[in-house]
This record gives sequence, structure tokens and C-alpha cells, in this order.
Amino acid sequence: MEIKIAQVGTGFMGKTHSIAYRVLSTFVPAGVKVKLQVLADVTEELARDGARKFGYENWVVGWEKIFDHDIDAVDIVTPNDVHPAIAIEAARRGKHVICEKPLAINVAKTREMVEAVEKAGVVNMVCFNYRQIPAVVMAKKLIDEGAIGKLYHFRAQYLQDWCVDPESPFVWRFQASRAGSGSLGDIGSHAIDYARYLVGEFDEVVALTETFVKERPLPGARDVHPVDVDDAVNMLIRFKNGAIGCLEASRFCYGRKNYLTFEVNGSQGSLYFDWEHCNDLFFYSARDREDRQGYRDIKIGPMHPHAEALWPIPGINMAYVETAILQAKEFVTAIVEGRQAVPSFRDGLQVASIMEAVLQSAATGSWTKVPLVV
Ligand SMILES: NC(=O)c1ccc[n+]([C@@H]2O[C@H](COP(=O)([O-])OP(=O)(O)OC[C@H]3O[C@@H](n4cnc5c(N)ncnc54)[C@H](O)[C@@H]3O)[C@@H](O)[C@H]2O)c1
Repeated sequence: MEIKIAQVGTGFMGKTHSIAYRVLSTFVPAGVKVKLQVLADVTEELARDGARKFGYENWVVGWEKIFDHDIDAVDIVTPNDVHPAIAIEAARRGKHVICEKPLAINVAKTREMVEAVEKAGVVNMVCFNYRQIPAVVMAKKLIDEGAIGKLYHFRAQYLQDWCVDPESPFVWRFQASRAGSGSLGDIGSHAIDYARYLVGEFDEVVALTETFVKERPLPGARDVHPVDVDDAVNMLIRFKNGAIGCLEASRFCYGRKNYLTFEVNGSQGSLYFDWEHCNDLFFYSARDREDRQGYRDIKIGPMHPHAEALWPIPGINMAYVETAILQAKEFVTAIVEGRQAVPSFRDGLQVASIMEAVLQSAATGSWTKVPLVV
């Protein structure tokens, strides 16, 4: 069986997803072949050079033209405002869809995407790739087994530093009409996904956002452009199951490059994870004998969920590309098996609902209920 992929976008994620597809036949069920059929971008140079570098058979200028080719699935790796039109048209034509996060710039647009893929009955997946990491799946397994007991606290941070310099140029990520939000949707959405995945649905939030640099220079021009998204967001969370949480996302933290962490504390223990050391999961069990209590460092290897597909012993280690491989593996395997992929567009919609409540809370300064929309 052959799965023919059309990809839209040739930037950072375009490169990452393409690398994953190129090796995917090694990771999917025997006999399944993944073909990089066609690549689209906005200029001939981007599309042609991307196709040559990434290994696509064909390239087109303008995403609408991907449908002139024989394709099974569409991978969307464009800025956020472009996602809905592509996803909805792909679904209408019966193509399976994988789309980067956040799915759209608001809940209304995200809901249109969910309705389109569900009406068409196509496999759909949102790219919360950081939840594919074996250490994170292992944390979920331990929580589900009751290893840390009743959940009390969740805390997460996603911190970067690429925006601190006010001369860092204006790009789509600083524009609400293109990105939806700033640090919240760009990086905070991954931490919110962790919160839902590991702890459960949100009941309410109270949040604070700040935009430290209000305008930025346009690339190659003397003009500046206003920034209308959050540079940083801090929130408190009340979960439906009684646990409480705090979550912070900022692109203004010098020294933090891609610092994504969580800690979960329960009645019987704790779990701690740090993406920059993603081959380790730290587990504290209050059931250990008192004279040997302390965080133990679980070295991730083939005995852990999702990692069995990768390397033969712990310590070989995995990193960013493996998250893309595991994500693409889930998407393509779901197509082959005729089941829904996880996380789906519905997960993306609930994260959008949380983010909208966060922005509303930041605007009003009050606790805000999170509508359950899935
Ligand atoms: N999951 C992750 O770890 C992760 C990391 C970075 C970005 N992202 C997400 O991936 C998406 C893309 O981000 P990126 O960093 O690759 O951005 P990017 O700016 O590097 O690349 C975007 C690409 O889309 C192309 N593009 C723009 N408009 C288009 C259109 N109308 N038709 C076709 N192509 C178009 C651009 O020319 C460019 O090649 C965003 O949704 C972002 O939030 C996810």
C-alpha cells in the first residue's frame, strides 16, 4: 500500500516533517510505502528548491494546485491563518489531513476544520509532537496506573529567548491576524496539551499576558510594525478533577532555548520531565522505603511506550526528529488501519477553547470558565 503525501509549506516544519516521511517506511507496518508526491509554497523558488532538498517528486506554486496531483493525505505546515482553508478543502476532497498547531487563529475557525474533517470521515491529526515523546507517554502510563496516586499539582513552563532582542524582525508570529496569539499559541499550546493529556480537562483559568516589545522592524525595511500578540503568558488552572496547575510560556527568557518542562505531584509520588533531557523521566515514589526515597531517573529505551519503534537499548537517545517520526508514524498507521489518529483535530479544538479562555481572562482580569467543546 502506498500513501502519497502533499505538503504545504517549506519552512522549519516543512523540513522537519519531510525528513520524517523520508524514513517512515522503516517505521510503519510492513508493505506500507510513503511517497513524497508534491510540495507547495508561495513562490517557485521556495517550492522548487524545497522539492529538490526534501525529495518531493513534484512542486507547485499555490496550495490549491496540490489537488491536481494523485494524493492521499495533506500535511499543512504554513502560518496558522492559512491552515483552515487548506484543511477544509482537503477534507472536502476526501484527503486525510495532518496540520501543525495551533490549528487556526481562533475557536470559530478551528471548529470549521473539525466539522469538515468529521463530515468527510478522513483521518485528522494535530501536531502536538511533544506528546509523542516516549518519556511523556511513560509519564501518562504511570499516572494511569496510579503510580503517583491522586493528582494534586501540575506545573509547566515553555520558555525560549529568541524574541528578547527588540531588533529581532517582525514576522507572522507577532501578528494576531496570522498567528492568533503569541507565546500562548506558539509554544504555550504544547504545554496546555501536556496538561490535558496528563491531568485532564480544564474547568477554569485566570491569566496574565504581557507584550514587552510593542513594535518591531520589518525585515529589510526602515519601517516598524506593531506587535499585537502576547510576548509572555502566565496562568493558573483549576482542573475538573480537583487538581490545580500553573503554566507559563514566554519567548523572553535569556538562556532558555527550548525549555519545556512539567511536574505532576500526586498523593503517592511525583513525575518530572524536561524536554532538553528528553531521554529521562524523573519519578519519585512515596511507596519506596523511607531510607531510599528520592527521584529516580528512568532511562528511556525500547521497553517504554512509543520507544519500541526506535533504538535497541536505553542511552542511544532520541531528539527532535524522532518526535516528527513518531507523529508521522501515528498518522500514516491510522490511515492504514482505518482508525482515528491521536491527537486529533478535536484535541486541537479543545486547546483552542482553553487559549481563548486564557486571553479572555487576561483581558478581564478574572477567573474564566473553559467551555468544553469536544
Ligand atoms: N510542533 C512544533 O514543534 C512546531 C515548531 C515550529 C512551528 N510549528 C508550527 O508549524 C507551522 C509553520 O511554522 P514554521 O516554523 O515552519 O514557519 P515558517 O515561517 O518557517 O514556514 C512557513 C512556510 O509556509 C509558507 N507559506 C506561507 N503562506 C503560504 C501559503 N498561502 N501557501 C503555501 N505556503 C505558504 C512559507 O512561505 C514558508 O515556507 C505553524 O503553524 C507553527 O505554529 C510547530
